[in-house]
Amino acid sequence: MNNILSKISIKELQQKYPFVINYFANNKLDIQGYEDMTFEEYLNHFTEEEVEEWAIDTKKLAEDLLEYINQMVKFLGIKEDKGIESLTILAGKDKSGIKEGFEKITINKSEIVSIVGPTGSGKSRLLADIEWAAHRDTPTGRTILINGEIPDKKWRFSSNNRLVAQLSQNMNFVMDLTVHEFLELHAQSRMIENEEKIIKEIIEAANNLAGEKFNLDTPITSLSGGQSRALMIADTAILSSSPIVLIDEIENAGIDRKKALNLLINSDKIVLMATHDPTLALIADRRIVIKNGGIAKVIETSEEEKEVLVELEKMDRIIQNMRNNLREGLTISIKR
Ligand SMILES: Nc1ncnc2c1ncn2[C@@H]1O[C@H](COP(=O)(O)OP(=O)(O)O)[C@@H](O)[C@H]1O
Ligand SMILES: [Mg+2]
Repeated sequence: MNNILSKISIKELQQKYPFVINYFANNKLDIQGYEDMTFEEYLNHFTEEEVEEWAIDTKKLAEDLLEYINQMVKFLGIKEDKGIESLTILAGKDKSGIKEGFEKITINKSEIVSIVGPTGSGKSRLLADIEWAAHRDTPTGRTILINGEIPDKKWRFSSNNRLVAQLSQNMNFVMDLTVHEFLELHAQSRMIENEEKIIKEIIEAANNLAGEKFNLDTPITSLSGGQSRALMIADTAILSSSPIVLIDEIENAGIDRKKALNLLINSDKIVLMATHDPTLALIADRRIVIKNGGIAKVIETSEEEKEVLVELEKMDRIIQNMRNNLREGLTISIKR
């Protein structure tokens, strides 16, 4: 973005961001006849006399234009084509300061990778490194690349056009809003067209995940842990355009985690999921094993493991049924 004023012509700038015309008009910049120049070249074409006579501050004009474009892009909810194809982790150090035993791990679009390891080993840390787009500036010293390159810093700080959607272990709502108001705010910030329809879709998906149903008038502060989890998952899945989804241990959230995963994993996202749950771990094509803060190895899910997964899913369904029966006040029997 910083280079668009020196890289592309004013004509191209106008095609990409038609609203810049207003900026030129407001600042009395007559660009007619200069459309083939970059904005930077255009600013430099003024003679010293002109700069003095009209009090032209070229540096400020360029900065303000960039800021104007930034704000308009945000305001209009324009999705910049990020085209994320891959995410790469470059090795850092484990808790003992020993270099991790790999050079780099690349995860491609549409891939699901699980992260396994004992509690306290560093699974959440790895997710945090990715969320922060670490550049040797976290305790692990890892570096994260996007499409093989160090990502633009804006991804770290922009809250609107986020690189990653993270579902963290703890979710605390402090805002005094109903579920509907919360979803409405979020939908508005995304410039969604059929707002009410999408909001309905989210609440349906959330209730489909949560054990206890809630509705649009429920204050978000009174949602249970499982319900707020379900809401965030449905919201992320349906509203978020983030190309990377990070999931930290959804199993303890009192929600149907298989359904949650299916909702989150659509088409072209990159999904990383820390888990202790064998079913979730084996759904992934690969799993990263963390030991003592470092990535110890990466294991491909084998054919045999995929067969085990089918059995695990059957067992899960049995347990899920028992859970539902318990909730409904029924008794449990061995015969199904
Ligand atoms: N490579 C590392 N170097 C230094 N500290 C680390 C490293 N990996 C993890 N830690 C720290 O260890 C603690 C436990 O890690 P965490 O990611 O919360 O574990 P888990 O999610 O697997 O339970 C955290 O304070 C984390 O910052
Ligand atoms: Mg953790």
